[in-house]
Amino acid sequence: MRRKTSHHKAEPYEEKLFKTLADNLQVGVYIIQKGKFQFINLQMQDYAGYTEAEMLTMDPLSIIHPGDRETAVKNAVSMLKGVRVAPYGYRLMTKQGQIRWIMETATPIVFKGEKAVLSSSMDITEQKETKESLRELNALKSSILDAIPQAVVGLQNRRINFANDAVEEVFGWRPGDLIGKSVTLFYRNEKEADEIGRYFYTTLEHQRTFVREFWCRHKDGHDILCRMRSSRIGERLTKERRIVVTYEDITEQRRAEEELTSSREQLRNLSAYLQSVREKESTRIAREIHDELGQSLSAIQMDLIWLETRLPAADASLAEKVQRMRRLVDTTVDSVHRISTELRPILLDDLGLTAAMEWQVQEFQVRTGVQCEANLNCNDNSIEKDLATTFFRIFQETLTNIARHAEATHVKVRLARKGDELCLDVSDNGKGITPKQVSDTKSFGIMGIRERVNLWGGSVNIIGKSKKGTMIKIRIPMRRGGY
Ligand SMILES: Nc1ncnc2c1ncn2[C@@H]1O[C@H](COP(=O)(O)OP(=O)(O)OP(=O)(O)O)[C@@H](O)[C@H]1O
Ligand SMILES: [Mg+2]
Repeated sequence: MRRKTSHHKAEPYEEKLFKTLADNLQVGVYIIQKGKFQFINLQMQDYAGYTEAEMLTMDPLSIIHPGDRETAVKNAVSMLKGVRVAPYGYRLMTKQGQIRWIMETATPIVFKGEKAVLSSSMDITEQKETKESLRELNALKSSILDAIPQAVVGLQNRRINFANDAVEEVFGWRPGDLIGKSVTLFYRNEKEADEIGRYFYTTLEHQRTFVREFWCRHKDGHDILCRMRSSRIGERLTKERRIVVTYEDITEQRRAEEELTSSREQLRNLSAYLQSVREKESTRIAREIHDELGQSLSAIQMDLIWLETRLPAADASLAEKVQRMRRLVDTTVDSVHRISTELRPILLDDLGLTAAMEWQVQEFQVRTGVQCEANLNCNDNSIEKDLATTFFRIFQETLTNIARHAEATHVKVRLARKGDELCLDVSDNGKGITPKQVSDTKSFGIMGIRERVNLWGGSVNIIGKSKKGTMIKIRIPMRRGGY
């Protein structure tokens, strides 16, 4: 501090006292006289980042941000004139180039016998920044709330004190019209509203959030199914019971789901029905071919034998003709037998699943030349007829697939009962089915297997290993209603 020769005796002491006081203040204090700093306290030096010596030679305006200089001066002047009473703000530029927000007052004083200005300043940068980020946060919050498609409301004792834009889309109410109203108007009636409210508050007492579906009502009166998520505001549910609830309209979604389930169910029933019709039809045709044609052929055969004994011995060509006819009838009998068995192995009905499967294995070996190792140990009698048919048809499809696609030389078949389940495992040593082929929506044979197994509440597992082979495992619980 510059010292001038004093023309007042008490001045050095007063000046010292003033300086001590000023330096101990938590606000910046400085005196300007004739456009120069005359005194700057420690706090002010600290704000500006300059030393006292530096500041004494500076233009006081140079520490104010250029954009704020004019208004700061204007405000200071009006305050000095007594026109303005409130502190004014400006941005201070520190020596290091940082900006600090300052609130300031200016008072006219007499300093060393001459007119001067005493200013006291406060650094409010931190408050300013907090306020700024708070404002940003609030803006962010409301834009998030308005961007999400679910209706969001804030409740206090069941009254709405906040609603986002999507409320209008979900419920038809304008957000502004809802403030202060009871949330009951979102529900179908008082009773349900009370139940929902009770459920909410009791749940939120012991958990922070929850999700549940409830029926609600649109402004225009139609019902909407909403998935509601709720959470309490704060650690505990206070007396004001402040909570946030989001409503997602899932009416359409639920309807589509139900439609899908029911059409799937219909398709499943239809396919089960068609299968059983086909099975019955095949059985009938197989029996008819077997019985009718079989009997006629036997009759023809007997007639031919009768004829043979009565032929004139002299005519050898006639005897030969009859011989040929008898051979033809024999092969026709075989064909009839084969055709009817393929339609529906009568074995399956007469001798049971294992016998029918054994016959199928023999057939397969003869027809394809692929070695087949069958291990069929289970008691037929306990297997329901329809379930036996299911297993047999699945087995047929599996063998057909091996013959057509696998390029295998060896097949292993195992049928066994494990606990309450009937298990069929068929594995080949062929090229191996790929996961894509297993799940392909155009694999109708495999789909048919799955469909049949599903009807019995069983499971299908198909595993292929490239160049190692394919394994199909069927598990079906017994003593369950089928079709
Ligand atoms: N044992 C197997 N080894 C290798 N590939 C197989 C085997 N079984 C099936 N696949 C593959 O999986 C595909 C789907 O089989 P799926 O039985 O569904 O149809 P498909 O036999 O081609 O026709 P279909 O509808 O007449 O049964 C087959 O085309 C074949 O590529
Ligand atoms: Mg197939």
